Amino acid sequence: VVPPHTEIRDGLPVVDLSAALRTGAPVLGAMERVRRFGPAFYQRVHGQEQLFVAGLDLVTELADEQRFAKSLGPALLNVREFAGDGLFTAFNDEPNWARAHDLLMPAFALGSMHTYHPVMVRVARRLIDAWDRHAAAGTPVDVPEDMTRMTLDTIGLAGFGFDFGSFRGERQHPFVGAMVRCLTWAMKRLARRPGVDYGEVDEAFRADAGYLTSVVDEVIAARTAGGAPDGGVEDLLGLMLRAVHPSDGKPLDARNIRNQVITFLIAGHETTSGTLAFALYFLAKHPEVLHRVRREVDELWGDVVDPEPTYEDVGRLRYTRQVLGETLRLWPAAPAFVRQAREDTLLGGRIPLRAGQPAGVIIPMLHRDPVWGDNPDLFDPARFAPEAESARSPHAYKPFGTGERACIGRQFALHEATLLLGLLAHRYRLIDHDQYELNVRQTLTIKPDGLTLTLIRRTSAD
Ligand code: HEM
Repeated sequence: VVPPHTEIRDGLPVVDLSAALRTGAPVLGAMERVRRFGPAFYQRVHGQEQLFVAGLDLVTELADEQRFAKSLGPALLNVREFAGDGLFTAFNDEPNWARAHDLLMPAFALGSMHTYHPVMVRVARRLIDAWDRHAAAGTPVDVPEDMTRMTLDTIGLAGFGFDFGSFRGERQHPFVGAMVRCLTWAMKRLARRPGVDYGEVDEAFRADAGYLTSVVDEVIAARTAGGAPDGGVEDLLGLMLRAVHPSDGKPLDARNIRNQVITFLIAGHETTSGTLAFALYFLAKHPEVLHRVRREVDELWGDVVDPEPTYEDVGRLRYTRQVLGETLRLWPAAPAFVRQAREDTLLGGRIPLRAGQPAGVIIPMLHRDPVWGDNPDLFDPARFAPEAESARSPHAYKPFGTGERACIGRQFALHEATLLLGLLAHRYRLIDHDQYELNVRQTLTIKPDGLTLTLIRRTSAD
């Protein structure tokens, strides 16, 4: 049944959201619309229209790099206001995208995770020290907040040799607050009403964006003054400052480096922390899955109180990795990406798209397409067993985006998250003391807001 505020064009519903855009978590509204109207519809907000899709057949077409490319949708154009021409928000044909991509790709190849592994273990220990104190006192931990502390410290240290020291005090580093406000500004700006004065809001945004820049300048200055990071290993910042592009022998320019550091600090931690928080939510709610994760980590680390996970250990945590795969299916932390047609074309043989016209992909609903079976809302890590994965179209699963603009940090995120999840499952029983009901909150990326758990240290008898 089509409600009165919709009309039909090209056989698709046009849904006008001007009066009803949900700013708390827009992706939830988009998911509702897919359930109600099907896997393709136009969304109109204050006269601006955009096509959204979620079905496997349409996303498979959009993934064809010959016909489509990344589009900076309105949300990313807003993020560009503070991340500039960093990798995430650069235009496809902007020379700085290709330069930075070429220079930084080697730093994200699977083999490079060897370099980051020791830092990831070191920061995981910080979290564990803090959680041990909560376990001893019987007080709950704030899961999304602590995951954010952990991932920020990891990307700060691993990428830039900069220590945010997030577990030192009660309060998070002010960078986090400023960054969350900038992302929220970028999201809320999408729902602006014509004729309203947003001057004060924009001024507050500019102050926050200026603060982010000042932190980044501090990170860069600390490096240029102090030389190589601990251990002398080249990290992302070292690469950016020193590596030159083979085409012209020049390094990245200073302004672009600043934009890349902001980009990596944001992209490198918000998404991974949301993913870890959702994974802990699922483990707390699915004791049988937690039990299997435990069997896996116990096989590796047994009764060792403080295991020293090696790089190779992380590769052995196959089921734990499946848990993360399934978590990213149901709640992909970056829940949408946007494509644009290279030439005028018909999508699915029926939806006309002009050259440059965008089409947004609602990832959580692609991940609930019928290809996922009769019960796509069910959390079931067996979907990521190797034989199940190889039987499925690669286009049914896109938590890291698609094509040449897909996530550069995928291996980094998965290594860090698998390591941490394994260590936590090995050490604690997770008690859902509050009978937590999922409350998804979005600041462009999503997280399970308000999730707290109490912890009990495991003993060998558990
Ligand atoms: C791009 C998701 C972790 C850095 C993307 C895109 C997605 C994504 C969907 C494509 C966006 C688009 O098409 O517009 C995720 C998820 C993560 C994660 C779900 C964690 C579970 C990371 C990490 C880093 C990172 C840890 C850095 C250390 C980037 C960058 C891009 C990107 C730089 C832009 C790449 C380009 O356009 O060249 N990510 N990401 N991400 N991600 Fe991630």
